[in-house]
Amino acid sequence: MKILGSYPSVRLRRNRKYNWSRRLVAENNLSINDLILPVFVTEGKNKIESIKSMPGIFRYSIDKLGSIIYRASKLKIPLIAIFPHTPSKKKNYLGSEGLNEDNLVCRAIKQIKKNNPNIGIMADVALDPYTDHGHDGILKNKEVLNDETIEILSAQALLQAQMGCDVIAPSDMMDGRVGVIRKTLDKNNFINVQILSYAAKYASNFYGPFRNAIGTTNKLKGNKKSYQMDYKNSSEALREVGLDIKEGADFVMVKPALPYLDIIKTVKDNFKIPVFGYQVSGEYTMIEQSVRSNILKREAILESLMSIKRAGASAIVTYFALDIAKKISN
Ligand code: PBG
Repeated sequence: MKILGSYPSVRLRRNRKYNWSRRLVAENNLSINDLILPVFVTEGKNKIESIKSMPGIFRYSIDKLGSIIYRASKLKIPLIAIFPHTPSKKKNYLGSEGLNEDNLVCRAIKQIKKNNPNIGIMADVALDPYTDHGHDGILKNKEVLNDETIEILSAQALLQAQMGCDVIAPSDMMDGRVGVIRKTLDKNNFINVQILSYAAKYASNFYGPFRNAIGTTNKLKGNKKSYQMDYKNSSEALREVGLDIKEGADFVMVKPALPYLDIIKTVKDNFKIPVFGYQVSGEYTMIEQSVRSNILKREAILESLMSIKRAGASAIVTYFALDIAKKISN
């Protein structure tokens, strides 16, 4: 027999008992407004290529972009991020294809803008899709040069803005690039083009599948540890974010997301700027493969995204964007 008073009067399980009650007390939610969809583009015509390292993700030739962009805009996904798979023969030591106004990214931006005026377009600023050594900047005597790289990056940013890009996303981790890009955009009257700085971008092993997707896997000489952050560090991320805010960033990104939730949270707690999380290719492939082999339930995807929201992200770049948007809209 129960003895009155021997149980706690506070029972947290009461609020969890019914579905309606759980919904009432939910502290976080994921909406379609939180999703950024990465899209890979490739040369050629009539191509939708599967990507070996990322099951369920494809590269589209420009003429085939219509279908995926239509689905995204119908679901009201706010922003699309374009990533180019540049053929080897267009890569060189300086990454000059990045400044070609007829390159894949430029053509994709123009094409998408023409047919979908209401969807935002974001494009990376970095040289790695275009260099034959796979680094994000100019390589000289095994060193990735900072200031010389920034000059090219600001020209790349300006070019992308001229094509109609809404959000310029420097992902190269050079020092001082946000300020120079902001000045260059302003000087050329692109005062409303936004800058999403990959402010805390770690030298991560979780980018592996992406490098296969953009064709840099066997190209990269060495590693990116001299410019991307060391995964042992967190205070340093606050210094990075602080600088990028001063230099004019409109939003900051933490990347990867799931292994770096602590960083998202500290950035959120320390600055009043929207922080985005990038659920990178390695995170995607781990989860997607486990779901496909029935090791995880598909709901694990939602759980992973919700945890990024809970940490404080206001938006998430995720390869699951279309699937999840579809699920949310039902
Ligand atoms: C390039 C870039 C990378 C990613 C986005 N932009 C790779 C890298 O820095 O090597 C990774 C994205 C992903 O893994 O999904 N600067």
